[in-house]
Amino acid sequence: MKRKSIGTNYSMCVQPTFIIGTYNEDNSPNFAPITWVSATCEGKEYLLVVSMFGTKKTKQNLIRTKSLSVNLVSVDMLDLVDYFGIAEKNTSKPEYSYENSGFVFAPVLDKSRWVYECEVVSSVKTGASDTFFCKIKNIQIDESIDVGGTFDVDLTKFDPVIYSGQYHSLGKHLGKIGDFLENKAK
Ligand SMILES: Cc1cc2nc3c(=O)[nH]c(=O)nc-3n(C[C@H](O)[C@H](O)[C@H](O)COP(=O)(O)O)c2cc1C
Repeated sequence: MKRKSIGTNYSMCVQPTFIIGTYNEDNSPNFAPITWVSATCEGKEYLLVVSMFGTKKTKQNLIRTKSLSVNLVSVDMLDLVDYFGIAEKNTSKPEYSYENSGFVFAPVLDKSRWVYECEVVSSVKTGASDTFFCKIKNIQIDESIDVGGTFDVDLTKFDPVIYSGQYHSLGKHLGKIGDFLENKAK
């Protein structure tokens, strides 16, 4: 394949879209879309890796409470992403409801089909950005969806929004690890 150089100002932006829930100092809920979300592990446990730039409320709340909910955004939640993501909210407020997490001090969006309830265990600063490593205390999913083992999740059932600077939906479910080996035993 012939390729071309396009500069360095891209972060290979195939990003999952989440809305992070935290509590403000006055105990009111705060939600913000965050797509710099990934995973790593410590021993046998997964950690979510959440990165934020600037001095946004979510970051201040995380530093103070060390608690967050990480709510997967499905296509039917894009109005919430736009609403929470735009600083001057002079548009009409979309309908949403939340409840308290039973595991950490954070509000959970009722509409999300997959929610991580997390506690910050460490963080790293890079300039104006902070990256938080978050221990997963609980995962709750839409009760009408079944997932198998750790590697059996069919993402299409969650209809997630993929972000690249613009919003996309997911394509087809293609199979599992090993399905594409040429001489796979039948
Ligand atoms: C689609 C989308 C993705 C975003 N992803 C991030 C992100 O990964 N990290 C970040 O620091 N801000 C991100 N933002 C910006 C924050 O959501 C925005 O600054 C928000 O207003 C912060 O709200 P808060 O001050 O209540 O925390 C994103 C915004 C949008 C619309």
